[in-house]
Amino acid sequence: MSIPNAAQADSWNGPEGIHWAAREDHGAGRHVALHRLLFEAAAIGETDRVLDIGCGAGETTVLAARQAARGHVVGVDLSRPMLERARADQRRRGLTNLRFEEGDAQIHPLGDGEFDVAISQFGIMFFADPVAAFANIGRALKPAGRLVFVCPQSMTRCAWYTVPVSALAGPPEPPPGAHEPGMFSLADRERIEDVLGGAGFGAVTTTAVDVPLFFGRDAASAAGFFIGTGPVRAILDDTTMTPDTARTVLEDALEPYASGDGVHLGGELWLVTARR
Ligand SMILES: C[S@@+](CC[C@H](N)C(=O)[O-])C[C@H]1O[C@@H](n2cnc3c(N)ncnc32)[C@H](O)[C@@H]1O
Repeated sequence: MSIPNAAQADSWNGPEGIHWAAREDHGAGRHVALHRLLFEAAAIGETDRVLDIGCGAGETTVLAARQAARGHVVGVDLSRPMLERARADQRRRGLTNLRFEEGDAQIHPLGDGEFDVAISQFGIMFFADPVAAFANIGRALKPAGRLVFVCPQSMTRCAWYTVPVSALAGPPEPPPGAHEPGMFSLADRERIEDVLGGAGFGAVTTTAVDVPLFFGRDAASAAGFFIGTGPVRAILDDTTMTPDTARTVLEDALEPYASGDGVHLGGELWLVTARR
């Protein structure tokens, strides 16, 4: 497999991918508000062919497969551990109208005019060359095929970033080179419009939405999740704080966000739609 996004592939095949693949709440239907937004906008029909970009462990791929019950869904991702989890989940559910492909969406042969709709939940911010990547995705769509994705706005507007990071290292500053591949590379509306326009998409809409995301059944399990994420691992690599202390600090910081439904933290996102 050829990979222009080698650094991302290393990360998502290493600690980051292993950590996300092990999420205890995977597939538990916890991201109700986010999924409602994404799937209402995607309006997947029963016979549609759907592409899920950066599908990870396949949560949205499974939901798409249920909606396209007489169609077909392909999930693409470059993380082997995430795809292993996705395929195990697929076997467990006995779903036959979806398949997962390992590849870099920027160059993977996604097909030519095959799909009615491409979706992504946080899977399209990591491309070294986003125009090339979205052009590749566009080629896979039928003429006037739909693209629908969600991505975060600025890190300072996402409590799921600022709360754990501030608790351990003080308020985060957006780094220079904010367009580098990473969680916040498509934080600017103008950049989304430029990238999609450059990749041949039209009718681009960007809607600001604020969606609470689920991070664990209680503060302890949410702290356990955050401690394995890239930003927190980077902070811990850089301090003398022990993982046990960090876990306690995180738990205290997350407690105010816990309710009977678990720990939810808000995040301002873009809901983006476009047409090939
Ligand atoms: C934040 S995770 C989101 C995963 C999944 N969509 C979800 O919501 O649970 C980002 C995903 O994008 C994938 N990814 C990053 N760069 C990619 C690329 N160039 N091609 C395909 N997948 C990529 C990662 O491996 C990871 O699974």
